[in-house]
Amino acid sequence: MDAGDTATRIERAQNKVRSLVAARPQGRSLPQAFYTDPDIYALELERIVYRNWILIGHVSEWPEAGDFRRIDVADESAIVVRGEDDRLRAFANVCRHRGSRVCLEEQGTARRFDCPYHGWSYGLDGALVAARDMPEGFDRSPYGLKSVSCETVHGLVFIAFSEHPSGLDAARSELERPMTAFGFQDLKLAARRDYDIPANWKLAIENYQECYHCATAHPDYATRHTLMLARPKRQRVQAHMLEALEGAGLEDLEIDRIDTKAPPGETGYGYSRTALFEGYLTGSRDGQPVAPLLGRLEAYDGGASDFSFGYASFLLAYSDHVVAYVFTPLDHGNSRLTTHWLVRGDAVEGKDYNVDALTWLWHKTTLEDVEIILNNWRGVRSRYYEPGPFSTMEAAESVYVDWLLAELLREDDA
Ligand code: FES
Ligand code: FE
Repeated sequence: MDAGDTATRIERAQNKVRSLVAARPQGRSLPQAFYTDPDIYALELERIVYRNWILIGHVSEWPEAGDFRRIDVADESAIVVRGEDDRLRAFANVCRHRGSRVCLEEQGTARRFDCPYHGWSYGLDGALVAARDMPEGFDRSPYGLKSVSCETVHGLVFIAFSEHPSGLDAARSELERPMTAFGFQDLKLAARRDYDIPANWKLAIENYQECYHCATAHPDYATRHTLMLARPKRQRVQAHMLEALEGAGLEDLEIDRIDTKAPPGETGYGYSRTALFEGYLTGSRDGQPVAPLLGRLEAYDGGASDFSFGYASFLLAYSDHVVAYVFTPLDHGNSRLTTHWLVRGDAVEGKDYNVDALTWLWHKTTLEDVEIILNNWRGVRSRYYEPGPFSTMEAAESVYVDWLLAELLREDDA
């Protein structure tokens, strides 16, 4: 699709969104067209998915020059690689000759990236270093791989398929204290799993905005996390954590700059800590530790911290490990949840942690989520579906929907 077609489609989609929003009662789930209309999906890609940061991993996954990972998001693909100068960069995985994908492997170590089509070859800094049988005097210099935005926040690596994504500075600065306490900079990846969800991407994210479903869908999560309780009840069971918090090396802190509350021009972010039920030190089968204490923590306070970055990247920091969840669309009716489990950088697998024990709760909980999201996807496409009212436990879901609609209708300033 050329730029003109895209512009026409965007305008058509915005007109649809405008009339849907005008007719939409506040505090209800989205109208069906948001899940089924291909024009609205195209608008979402332009205005949300490609313009915002997506968490892709931790810096420690690229220890040496030439270490790379390929990251696919909807119709785009990036190569994220550490250069000879030690810098981590991201490039569009699109050959400057005739547009083939250049890198087909998911990850590895390379000295150069050779296009599988006609062999154009690119260096670790993206420069075109070889192109055979081109006319005499051919200047390779303008044909380097195009850049994709790439930044790190206390060790976490984010990319965005836009030259001008929203900023990460406010998140980096305001989340510094809790991220330092958990030693984010020095974590390492212990496990990662992709969960493919055959449903529209928004349903997957919406499901993670609320814990209204936790009591019904997640028997193991719900016996460990007090987040499954409505706020007034939850506050009554926080005492044991609040008493232990400071002694453990944490602060009683809540930061809510999420979605519509983000500082102007910045990516939204948030932080809060919530108690586990008494007797549970971490999110494990028996509540006992599954890895060494993180960062500067000195003891278990019996809590778990939620961090969020933008619309798609969420982290849950227990005292001994971090679980990160990142949602990306694959296409209109398919999405992916990538779950990363992180432990302290000097922890040794088999001695300090065991991957099965570490991943038990969130692998199981995620499979339950995939099932409920799929049922939701089946239902919202029915002729009988109509938007229903949010509960008091879906406040974040309501904020997220408002943010999404505002972004879709925002004047194009990119
Ligand atoms: Fe890559 Fe031709 S498309 S070398
Ligand atoms: Fe869930």
